Amino acid sequence: MENRSQWGTRAGFILAAVGSAVGLGNIWRFPATAFENGGGAFMVPYLVALLTAGIPILIMEFTMGHKYRGSAPLTYKKMNKNVEWIGWWGVLVAFVISTYYSVIIAWAISYSIFSFNLNWGSDTEGFLFNNHLELVDPGQFGGFVPGVLIPLIIVWLVVLGVLYRGVKKGIEMANRIFIPTLIVVFLIIVIRAITLPGAVEGLNAFFTPDFSTIANPDVWVAAYGQIFFSMSIAFAIMITYSSYLPKKSDLTNNAFIVGFGNSSFELLCGIGVFSVLGFMAVQQGIPVDEVVTGGVGLAFVVFPQIINQFPALNELFGFLFFASLVLAGLSSLISIIETYIAGLVDKFKISRGKAVVFGGGFAALVSLIFSTRGGLNFLDAADYFINQFGVAFVGLIEVVLVAWILRKLGEFKEHANEISDIRLGGWWTISLGVITPIVLGYTMYGLFRQNLLKLFETDNGNYEGYPDAFILYGGWFVAAGALVVGIIMALMKWKKPKENEAIKEAK
Ligand code: ALA
Repeated sequence: MENRSQWGTRAGFILAAVGSAVGLGNIWRFPATAFENGGGAFMVPYLVALLTAGIPILIMEFTMGHKYRGSAPLTYKKMNKNVEWIGWWGVLVAFVISTYYSVIIAWAISYSIFSFNLNWGSDTEGFLFNNHLELVDPGQFGGFVPGVLIPLIIVWLVVLGVLYRGVKKGIEMANRIFIPTLIVVFLIIVIRAITLPGAVEGLNAFFTPDFSTIANPDVWVAAYGQIFFSMSIAFAIMITYSSYLPKKSDLTNNAFIVGFGNSSFELLCGIGVFSVLGFMAVQQGIPVDEVVTGGVGLAFVVFPQIINQFPALNELFGFLFFASLVLAGLSSLISIIETYIAGLVDKFKISRGKAVVFGGGFAALVSLIFSTRGGLNFLDAADYFINQFGVAFVGLIEVVLVAWILRKLGEFKEHANEISDIRLGGWWTISLGVITPIVLGYTMYGLFRQNLLKLFETDNGNYEGYPDAFILYGGWFVAAGALVVGIIMALMKWKKPKENEAIKEAK
């Protein structure tokens, strides 16, 4: 019985998978992460993580979704009935990410509008924290900020509208519009960026390697974390997307296209971002490393400053930059939410429409927390903890389970090889069975130790110096909650499909 939704074309699937991968992680996170972790030298752990974990796991997830044809929970259940919880764990991690990812896109919407008049003025930092976010101390909510709430509602209406229309008419169609537009817009920005005075200084700062960082385990954690988040692996997404592939699909080749496509875009973002940082550094007569900041600061503080100093067409380039953040973010957010829409449809045999309204609606309600005056603090803690102890941890457990506990690598390799042009060889098995578990296991151990110890130390060495209580419920509880709720979901009973519902879904 084959009643699962399907992608319309191979290109449609590839665009959707690239749309999922290319997101805020590429534009917002990669350049700063690379710079903080050794610049050009970061490329070594990054490439190792890409080739020994990123691409192999992507091939594995494509194969799992295609073979078992299910959302992540259904896929894991079909693999072995005792491991459904891992599927839900990934879905819950995706759920948490969707609740704050949507908020960053909402900021980007506001900033694309602010671009028309360069509303942020000359004090862009003060504007972001005091005027736009109206930030209060960690742990406080402080009421809604209308300037965040309204675009946030728009984000949810758009993504849930797309998801409601289904895989082919909704997700595939949206990506067919978003991704080509994004590529054109971004190329315009990058070409402008590299032709600015000072661009070379920026690129030198980016690409000059600091090899002393390579032996530092934190750098490796950062590289794996970046690869997983950026490629949308280990949080249920690619399993879900590949479950909509037709029987005859080239899995390995598709994974290479998506993986290298994503990393090329990421590198392009690094080049674009560092060119403009070089421009700004030269304008102000300071070294490039003094103008680099990570995350929120880079996109919403430093970029507006740079746009202020653009030689011409400031408003237009401001708009193009923030619009590209919106486009990249929306296509990823759609894939993040689809993980729980698919999970709910499979497990409770409800229609897609109901899953969108209830699952998406609930996530939208939770996301309101981040649209309060204390939202940024909650967002920062949730983002850090869910990525390290959600995404990277799920990735480790997933690989160990498939390679060592269920011993499925041989079977998956055969499945992929039967239908793909590129044949998987020993590198795939060794990467997943040996290299990734060792490197990721070692770095995760270090990370747990470091963060747990900090919680018990008397001096405050917590992440970003947040108070212990805030780190506990804003960070640890959120990350552990994804696992606990995942286990509870797995313990719930599966509903049997109603005859007519199954037929309706097939259409
Ligand atoms: N892969 C998506 C990103 O990079 C989630 O933002």
